[in-house]
Amino acid sequence: HPLQSANSFGIAARSRYAVEIRDEADLPAVLADPRFAGLPRRLLGGGSNVVLTGDFDGLTLLMRIAGKRLVGESAEAVLVEAGAGEVWHELVAWTIAQDRPGLENLALIPGTAGAAPIQNIGAYGVELEERFDSLRAFDTKAGAFVTLDRDSCRFSYRDSLFKREPDRWIVTAVTLRLPRPWRPVTTYPDLARVFADRADVSAAEIFEAVIAVRRQKLPDPAVIGNAGSFFKNPIVPAAQYGDLAAAFPGLVGYPQPDGQVKLAAGWLIDRCGWKGRAVGRAAVHDRQALVLVNRGGATGAEILDLAREIQRSVRDTYGVALEPEPVIL
Ligand code: EPU
Repeated sequence: HPLQSANSFGIAARSRYAVEIRDEADLPAVLADPRFAGLPRRLLGGGSNVVLTGDFDGLTLLMRIAGKRLVGESAEAVLVEAGAGEVWHELVAWTIAQDRPGLENLALIPGTAGAAPIQNIGAYGVELEERFDSLRAFDTKAGAFVTLDRDSCRFSYRDSLFKREPDRWIVTAVTLRLPRPWRPVTTYPDLARVFADRADVSAAEIFEAVIAVRRQKLPDPAVIGNAGSFFKNPIVPAAQYGDLAAAFPGLVGYPQPDGQVKLAAGWLIDRCGWKGRAVGRAAVHDRQALVLVNRGGATGAEILDLAREIQRSVRDTYGVALEPEPVIL
């Protein structure tokens, strides 16, 4: 089964078997199917945060469970439930159209609702965990469906329980919690520039502004293959940040609640001269150095070769290790 159109990098890898899951009731039967017995298994949602490094001799589950609905509304919050296969951005747009604000900063993030908690997606000042209520998943280890609340998901920056145990969980539905009263989040520099200190900004305006900023900087995976940010922004001790800031004027850093500082990996890579550079069929995006792109026909190995060269040059220049953000399969 070809997977080229099932991963946003557009890598031409194949899977021995692939099955679309359209209803959670399909899962137990598929998992018990004798044709797939003993084979390794993998789950793909939108395939927008993975690097496929080769053909897969196993079963790929393509998560396609649809549906989105309001499941609760009180003075404190609105609860929205989505099937894991819903396209994330369409879910965000639907909540805005329903006048249920809270997800606007997370507009246009590629991928599915079910994948959102895996890497705890975040952008423009909001992280998924701040809008998360619970999820439903099939625990393949226990052979049963479970409901996991926010604490159980062990969220941290671009990380969760699910990223640490990728083969165990099959997320089938996600419930988001949109706190009331709604408060705009416009502190992120790209939004602060647009809205300055306007107090009357609406969720729809933030939604449109986020879309505009993302379109300007980030390549559309439908046009040029990519998986968004290829590296996490590295978090370093305050003392190391101080030394680096003294040595490299303009260094971008965001202080963390624990006193450490999150560096902008895009800035580090950019200043090493990588922006727009190609190595074979893989390249660094010309408007955002944190994004690697497939210029056409690149293999997973070519993408990873480029990633390693970037890691080496950032380590040699700043003494900082970059960790890949997508899941390498
Ligand atoms: N920068 C450069 N050169 C570059 C890229 C960035 O100098 O080529 C500088 C920017 O000028 C800015 C800073 O680095 O001062 C940060 O850049 P940006 O605001 O574009 O955000 P980012 O840190 O590169 C993170 C997320 C994005 C998210 C944006 C906005 C990670 C790994 N990435 O990127 O998420 O959209 O912030 O909140 O945390 C993703 O995870 O796939 C993703 C796209």
